[in-house]
Amino acid sequence: MGKLVIAGGNVLKGRVRISGAKNAALAIMCASIMAEGQVLLENIPDITDIQVMISIIRCLGAQVEWPESDSLSIRMPGRIEAMPPYELVKKLRASNLLLGPMLARYGRVELCLPGGCNIGSRPMDLHFKGLAALGAELTLEKGVVRATARRLNGSRIYLDFPSVGATENIMMAACLAKGQTVIENVAKEPEVVDLANFLNCLGARIRGAGTDIIKIEGVDVLGECLRYNVIPDRIEAGTYMVAASATGGDVQLENVIPLHVEPLSAKLREANVEVYEEGDVLRVRAGEPLRPVDIKTMPYPGFPTDMQSQMMALLSRVKGTSMIVENIFENRFRIADELKRMGAKIRIEGRLAIIEGGGRLCGAKVKAPDLRAGAALVVAGLMAEGETEIDNVYYIDRGYHRLEEKLASLGARVWRR
Ligand code: EPZ
Repeated sequence: MGKLVIAGGNVLKGRVRISGAKNAALAIMCASIMAEGQVLLENIPDITDIQVMISIIRCLGAQVEWPESDSLSIRMPGRIEAMPPYELVKKLRASNLLLGPMLARYGRVELCLPGGCNIGSRPMDLHFKGLAALGAELTLEKGVVRATARRLNGSRIYLDFPSVGATENIMMAACLAKGQTVIENVAKEPEVVDLANFLNCLGARIRGAGTDIIKIEGVDVLGECLRYNVIPDRIEAGTYMVAASATGGDVQLENVIPLHVEPLSAKLREANVEVYEEGDVLRVRAGEPLRPVDIKTMPYPGFPTDMQSQMMALLSRVKGTSMIVENIFENRFRIADELKRMGAKIRIEGRLAIIEGGGRLCGAKVKAPDLRAGAALVVAGLMAEGETEIDNVYYIDRGYHRLEEKLASLGARVWRR
């Protein structure tokens, strides 16, 4: 499976271009199966999660091509040819976003639930509550959800928690429901807004994405969208911002929407990192010394849970005590054990991590427990003295496009073994 090796100590300097957003692209690819016509998506990152999603929708009968290195053309037939295959669905949690689109367009879906993962149990009760409110009949047996709906009907739905996936699944299904659907307490993540914009490009009638309430007027058919440019990946951008800060570097990021990374930029400024816009480039320059900070992960526009592990790595080297509260997932501190193998001083008490920063980090053999923890180990390896060898690098390949190439272009010493 290969390992990623980093020789730490280099300062990152230069320019890096951020790729398209994994979590927007995955949702938009699921929405594409609702289109009667041709769909062309641009700024799609060629990463493992995208490749798996392509395989899944091809199994459903879709024609999927890469006309350009970062563009996808998708065309879905009128009839579904099969249900999403378990051996692919189990690899990709986001396959649960096929529920709404398949119900809405084909009236039936059978999906093996991807189940929990390393960061938490990942229940889907809010997805099911919303789809049932639209008139779907769902059964759940032995980890397989079966849902049918002759015609979905608009409804008023309140989400107990602003779940990104539940917001997306319900919003997609509501596009082809009869009448109006109002969803309250929705997720406001940029990826949800990007999905809504894409659906409207297909002819949906969605208003309010990015606010607490989304209203959808159902339509009979969704047409075509011959050019849709997916937003940049704010978590990839954030990871390079933290890597630049961690190495005392000075990095310019291209293809970033500054507003989308504002929660992180504000926290980095608190830590004595300069973050500012130079035209359409975001510049990150580490101050000296960095200061300890406290973080609470929250739904957008709060501090993103997907940046929590990377910040823990950075703060391991910042003199003083920093605290992180993880409010979104119940098991997202597994990075701490790996960082402690490198010399970090971290104490975990439930949802609270206490980091006594400032000590040396030494390169070690470590193992990525999940995607973002893997990214955090890259940050730690860049800071550490000596060589860090990261196993389970396939986790990192799920979400980071051309990682070594981009890091090496900034001066990092990184290779595969
Ligand atoms: C999306 O996951 C992202 N994945 C995650 O990114 C991200 O961490 C998460 O949103 C939060 O921002 C994709 O978009 C593919 P949620 P999702 O539903 O939709 C609870 C990455 O690294 N919940 O907002 O699964 C759930 O247990 C990944 O790119 C319910 O209780 O997240 C969790 O505690 C990791 N019932 C919280 O809500 C439900 O029905 C947030 O989950 C659904 C969720």
